[in-house]
Amino acid sequence: MPAERWTNPSSNAGSPAGGKRAIGDRSDIDRVRDASDIVRIIGEHISLRPKGREYVGLCPFHDDRTPSMTVVPHKQFYKCFSCGASGDVFTFVQKFLRMEFRESLEFLAERAGVQLTPLRQQSLAERGDGPAITKKDLLAANNAAAAFFAGVMKHETHGATGRQVLVSRGVSEEMIKEFRLGIAPDRWDGLVMTLGSKFGKDVLAQAGLLKQREQGGYYDAFRNRVMFPITDRTGRVIAFGARKINPDDEPKYLNSPETPVFYKSKTLYGLDLALRTIQQEKTALICEGYMDVIACHQAGFRNAIATLGTALTPEHAKELRLACDRILLLFDGDEAGQRAADRAAEVFFSQPVDVAIVSLNKFTDAKDPDELLKRDGGPEVFRKALAGAIDLLDFRFQRVAERLEGAGLAARSKAMVAEIERLVELGLANVEPIRKALIEKRLAQIAGVPEAIVRASVPAGRAARPNSYNNDAPTPVVIGANQQLTLEEHLLGCLLCDGALWTTLSERDKDIIAPVSFESDIIKRVAQSIHDLGEDGELPHMQSVLSQLEADDDARSAAIALMSRVDEQSGHDQNRVHALWRACMSRARGDAMLRSSQAGLPEPKSAGDASAAAVERLKLLNSVQQTLGPDRRKVPRPS
Ligand code: UTP
Ligand code: MN
Repeated sequence: MPAERWTNPSSNAGSPAGGKRAIGDRSDIDRVRDASDIVRIIGEHISLRPKGREYVGLCPFHDDRTPSMTVVPHKQFYKCFSCGASGDVFTFVQKFLRMEFRESLEFLAERAGVQLTPLRQQSLAERGDGPAITKKDLLAANNAAAAFFAGVMKHETHGATGRQVLVSRGVSEEMIKEFRLGIAPDRWDGLVMTLGSKFGKDVLAQAGLLKQREQGGYYDAFRNRVMFPITDRTGRVIAFGARKINPDDEPKYLNSPETPVFYKSKTLYGLDLALRTIQQEKTALICEGYMDVIACHQAGFRNAIATLGTALTPEHAKELRLACDRILLLFDGDEAGQRAADRAAEVFFSQPVDVAIVSLNKFTDAKDPDELLKRDGGPEVFRKALAGAIDLLDFRFQRVAERLEGAGLAARSKAMVAEIERLVELGLANVEPIRKALIEKRLAQIAGVPEAIVRASVPAGRAARPNSYNNDAPTPVVIGANQQLTLEEHLLGCLLCDGALWTTLSERDKDIIAPVSFESDIIKRVAQSIHDLGEDGELPHMQSVLSQLEADDDARSAAIALMSRVDEQSGHDQNRVHALWRACMSRARGDAMLRSSQAGLPEPKSAGDASAAAVERLKLLNSVQQTLGPDRRKVPRPS
């Protein structure tokens, strides 16, 4: 077989969506769509009431008198049966809130706590001369700015009002120092005059510290604000939160924009200071605001951190996972806080970390920890509230039980079915067995039905969820339930389970899974998509492949089938996927070697050489066969 390369874009016929959109990375779009709850987004503007598995409401796109818009949560789309308006969560936001596509993506990503791939900014180097701005430059600028703001705080006149705000709110001298609080002076040129020439105004601007005037020139982005340096886990300043001092200013808090050193949905305020305690106590305490974190630390709750005005994301959990095994989430008792808790329950449902919700409002009328902790006896009440934290699942099920209370039999069973379906969507089939069993037990208790019935409604494998919603038409079965996968198909399946495996492939290895290695045209297209992504420097994860194959339902189904099959075979265990990959790969390499030597390519110089090589190959094949177990797949015959 010739060592062909599989990068030819013209062979991309099966996937018109092939290239990347300039307005947003495909996988970003999918991630945001998956993380957004269309019922919730639309429901904020239009009252929706449940009707079976769907929701109905008045259509905002025409003068609707009877509810003619249906929102279909499990397919994540809406449709008006009167005027025909329809679409997904992006369409809705664009049309109803009048946003451009990119704007809607950012809007929804922010709402869902999804971190977007930063748009590639034109670097200095591309714009012209001079070196590009590096992360190092940005860090240096931010750290110098923190020192500048801290200096202003000490200044007799420029720092007076701001200092007064902190003093009147009872922030101790010690906390001001630890959190490196500062003041942005009430003028347009404080920072630009002090740091402009040393660090470069373009660098300061890219760090979000300066803004550019339309007529040219720069001015301070933060004016007359208390500055909260946001640090990474090693304490380097990567951004700022800035609270207004003058009550008339808007907004209350300004944040630095995202930069190559600052990803909002990954960052936790105060993490550098809290990390040690978090590790010691194995518990992180997540508040909502800067002031809350500082008040907690001041009162001795040194494991307090905060998200930056966004929902908690799985990325946050990743940041914490190594340090602790329990996360306490503090939420406001208000409507928004409840929603945030609901969302957190969903985000963390299938994550392997214990999350518990602390509801302050059950213990106090103080609206946040800052307010509570400054009161007499506040810390005691706070301690009680923490001790009364409710496990996230219990919290979720409490809400379900509340909804079911007093409902008739039919309504109960419907609601339970809906709940189970939602949990399956959130990954119930994949949570580790003990937790899964507990969940099933709880569900059965709530519903008042035998556990076996609940268990029977939960599918065993990973519930792969294709994103397109017009796939009602039957698609041909490419891989039958009992059909054995070939070696190469196993390899594709492994890649789809973990796209990072692509990076382990040599050029020869890539040929092994080249499209021509597959009989089925449909699987050829899956292979092509994997190669296209891989050669583009993107990991061929399931999501990306599905995106690429957007218009090719057959190939999508095949990709899902390959992935699920390997996933199932490996007991949903990544390590076993890797083991299977290594075994299949060395077997396939052996086969390729065998083929090429039989084709007489590298002629052995002597009989001794030839037999030594043959023995080697035999050993290899045997070891692979042992790893794989007997007769697991159809192995391509050496030709
Ligand atoms: P809060 O409005 O509850 O503020 O916002 P706070 O932390 O209690 O502040 P004080 O006590 O009034 O001074 C909670 C968090 O939401 C984000 C900030 O991270 C803030 O700490 N936020 C709030 C913004 O990003 N922008 C805003 O305009 C408001
Ligand atoms: Mn507050």
